[in-house]
Amino acid sequence: MKSFILGAILFSTNVACAQTSIILKADSTAQTINKNIYGHFAEHLGRCIYGGFYVGDTNKVIPNTDGVRNDVIAALRKMKIPVLRWPGGCFADTYHWKDGVGDKSKRPTMVNSWWGGVTEDNSFGTHDFLNMCERLGADRYLSGNVGSGTVQELSEWVQYVNFDGKSPMSDWRRKNGRDKPWNVKYWGIGNEAWGCGGNMTAEYYANIYRKYSTFMTGSDEHPIFRIASGANSADYHWTDVLMRDIPHHLLQGIALHHYAVIDWNHKSPAVDFSEQQYFASMKSALMMNELVTKHSAIMDKYDPEKKIALVVDEWGGWYDVEPGTNPAFLYQQNTMRDAMIAASTLNIFNNHSDRVRMANLAQTINVLQAVILTNKEKIILTPTYYVMEMYNVHQNAKLIPVVLNTDDYSYGNEKLPAVSASASMDSAGVVHISLANINSTKEESISIKVEGNKYKKISGTILTSPRLQDHNTFENPDKIKPQTFSAASLKGDLIKVKIPPFSVIVLELK
Ligand code: AHR
Repeated sequence: MKSFILGAILFSTNVACAQTSIILKADSTAQTINKNIYGHFAEHLGRCIYGGFYVGDTNKVIPNTDGVRNDVIAALRKMKIPVLRWPGGCFADTYHWKDGVGDKSKRPTMVNSWWGGVTEDNSFGTHDFLNMCERLGADRYLSGNVGSGTVQELSEWVQYVNFDGKSPMSDWRRKNGRDKPWNVKYWGIGNEAWGCGGNMTAEYYANIYRKYSTFMTGSDEHPIFRIASGANSADYHWTDVLMRDIPHHLLQGIALHHYAVIDWNHKSPAVDFSEQQYFASMKSALMMNELVTKHSAIMDKYDPEKKIALVVDEWGGWYDVEPGTNPAFLYQQNTMRDAMIAASTLNIFNNHSDRVRMANLAQTINVLQAVILTNKEKIILTPTYYVMEMYNVHQNAKLIPVVLNTDDYSYGNEKLPAVSASASMDSAGVVHISLANINSTKEESISIKVEGNKYKKISGTILTSPRLQDHNTFENPDKIKPQTFSAASLKGDLIKVKIPPFSVIVLELK
């Protein structure tokens, strides 16, 4: 038998054990799960912005408000999108925000050099994004250009969107139709500075960051939250240098990027994948647990009070593009494998919410692990969308620590923990437990012992489907949808539930 502690969870695996058992410490809530852990990311990449969010304000075919699709707004509001990162990604370090404000007919074009070399007309810019977020009810996270921009350009962007008084930038904003500032809190200072953002060393970037952040100021009433471009997966040196070399009054968050990818040179098909590819994807996705544990430990060394957040502002499954689509547009379908990645990763983030206080799934629409796919006037919601919707009960709820003892999911000589779990209590005292069984063939019998409080009623929702490769299509958009789950029993302090292979269940206790 082996045991290991990950965040608030104690995992232990035992080959002889046929069941998963969980102890729910319902009498001891921990920190609040920041709702921004359920955040999203939208880049000017392929059809994420153009054709995804935005169809143009003269479009008479697809119902829209100021060019933004009404169906997308409705779906993301229903899912409770808490925060949206924009405009990139790699694109952010090529983006000059001043080209995207003012009269649309006079805006200069630009070449999207990272994503297919397409020419774009800058018709979706700062006002379009920030006004759209108001309609979504979502907080905004702007990713600033460090790679090819200037300190002045970024500090003027802050002034343009946030300054209430009279200034050259706020006057220009008013002239462009927006009187009151948007008060954007979250600002990224570059993206992937170790790669597409400038191929910098950690030491060099830390100095650059010090300079940029010095000239990005908030107010007492609306302080800004500056996020450093973070490590690529297991680059722990990067986090160490940033925590060591950047004065902490300039630093509110450090990013981390990790994609569930099998091999960057030999990815997997998004739909017709084998079990071997499924296992390898899950192995890469579950590595997130080790990553947030180790990056957090480095941060603890310099910041034991956990003032600085770990912001996982890009994560998700990355596969081959759909056959026949532009390879630079990163358009992929979304199956039950993606539901497993989303559910397991969100459990990890919940359980590490003392340090992980924002995460942004890449990317919202038509790119990578999207929650929405569009085809002209049609739209489909993916299995990942439904996981995000089922899990939104955890947003701003109090984490309940769980002790988990689970079977292995084995493939060849390798093993992964079959079940993951997290739990929380909302402001009304209602408890939610989210469970994911990634085993591709085996149902898991789970017994949950509820310690502390007493509950009388149990209900639930399940996301399941006969095949791992199942997905929603424009012809069959409702193939996979959450269903009511009433097969969990509650007797005294014991819950019994059977979770089918590759399924997600969220239970509610009252
Ligand atoms: O999400 C796609 C790309 O992945 C982003 O632009 C970049 O930051 C990362 O490498």
